[in-house]
Amino acid sequence: MSLRSRINTPEENGSRGEDGHLVSSYRAKLLEEIDLAEMSSLAAAERRARLERVLGHIISREGPVLSTVERSQLIRRVVDEALGLGILEPLLEDASITEIMVNGPDSIFVERGGRVEQLPLRFPSHDQLMQTIERIVSTVNRRVDETNPMVDARLPSGERVNVIIPPLSLTGAILTIRRFPRSYTLQELVGFDSLDENMLYLLAGLVQARFNIIVSGATGTGKTTLLNALSGLIPEGDRIITIEDSAELQLQQRHVVRLEARPPNVEGQGRVTIRDLVRNSLRMRPDRIVVGEVRGGESLDMLQAMSTGHDGSLATVHANSAEDALMRLKTLASMSEVEIPFEALHDQINSAVDVIIQLTRFADGARRITEIALLDSNGSEPYRLATVARFDAQPMAADGRIYGRFAYFPLPRRAVDRLYMASQPTPQAFGVAQSAAQLALREAR
Ligand SMILES: Nc1ncnc2c1ncn2[C@@H]1O[C@H](COP(=O)(O)OP(=O)(O)OP(=O)(O)O)[C@@H](O)[C@H]1O
Ligand SMILES: [Mg+2]
Repeated sequence: MSLRSRINTPEENGSRGEDGHLVSSYRAKLLEEIDLAEMSSLAAAERRARLERVLGHIISREGPVLSTVERSQLIRRVVDEALGLGILEPLLEDASITEIMVNGPDSIFVERGGRVEQLPLRFPSHDQLMQTIERIVSTVNRRVDETNPMVDARLPSGERVNVIIPPLSLTGAILTIRRFPRSYTLQELVGFDSLDENMLYLLAGLVQARFNIIVSGATGTGKTTLLNALSGLIPEGDRIITIEDSAELQLQQRHVVRLEARPPNVEGQGRVTIRDLVRNSLRMRPDRIVVGEVRGGESLDMLQAMSTGHDGSLATVHANSAEDALMRLKTLASMSEVEIPFEALHDQINSAVDVIIQLTRFADGARRITEIALLDSNGSEPYRLATVARFDAQPMAADGRIYGRFAYFPLPRRAVDRLYMASQPTPQAFGVAQSAAQLALREAR
């Protein structure tokens, strides 16, 4: 049965009513007859084959009379539940689903093509949901129970999993699975209208000319995806160090060192933070540092690295506008235990950050670059943000999509000189500002 038909025929899926009873009673019988120790020594495919064979015997021995199709469906469902993730299994197989959200046993949502929809699926019981959750987190040697009611982990297959259970969650056990994001090139993102050719051309120049770039956006706006695409433009000769909470970046260059932070173990020990990794990376002779997401005191170390010779570094931050991104970096940097006056942090940001790329997820599911701003201020001056590209959106059209156009503005002289010194042409669409009056400028403190 195809995934679509499974999902669209509620009585056929999950384990409900009469049918569900059959599935769980066979699952229990199956578990009685197999030798678990022997099972664990088998590879996944052999394990499935063995379970199917044993179950086949059980059904022939005592089962109801079933057609061949019914029989193989029953076998598949029982084995799926015994072995895998039950009703989640087909969802995980569906490449068009990017996020699975289980809000207690009765409510399952998925994100597909940027839109969130509820599926007519449910777990047979709270216990079944908990069993599935336990099965998932145990593959990464984690545990979820009263003393560890929250778990965030990455599966060997790349999915990112978050679990939070009662009493912290008031609506049953919550499971959120983010599919391993596919990596896209900037050219592919142009194909999605997330940016256009002129912007691609500009961004390529900025990366090659070693501008420090901050990708800013809210949750799920495509920050990691864009960071990955931008990193793809780093020249082959550079030594790149990537630092992430859960490794998602997929750089293709030869000289890449990948570092991943580590949560504390069950005893609460052994934690390694992004900050520890950023500091360590500075002793590893990086040409470029790529930080998956800045969300704590590492902001300070990263800003220091960016302003002291590791130009061309890239990072993302969770913020809703270019100004907001600067404020957020400042606030996060002030959270480090090193006591640095706020004014000094301001100067640090002025000398470290060169470009902010703002991402937005629109109501129709599209993700786009809504602004590219260059930071054109020094030292203790207020931040001067020069917009060089902006997406001007129109109200939602009759077909439910949001259309609009990208507008371009002239580049500050300083940026043009820097591009020139790095043998990068300034794309014609933007042009060069001859005076401050020609810039699309705004100030922020
Ligand atoms: N430009 C794009 N067009 C279409 N889909 C995209 C685009 N960018 C990202 N996506 C998809 O959106 C989802 C979220 O992307 P991504 O993980 O990059 O977001 P994020 O901002 O890093 O999220 P988080 O805040 O959780 O870290 C992924 O499934 C990804 O494939
Ligand atoms: Mg991300």
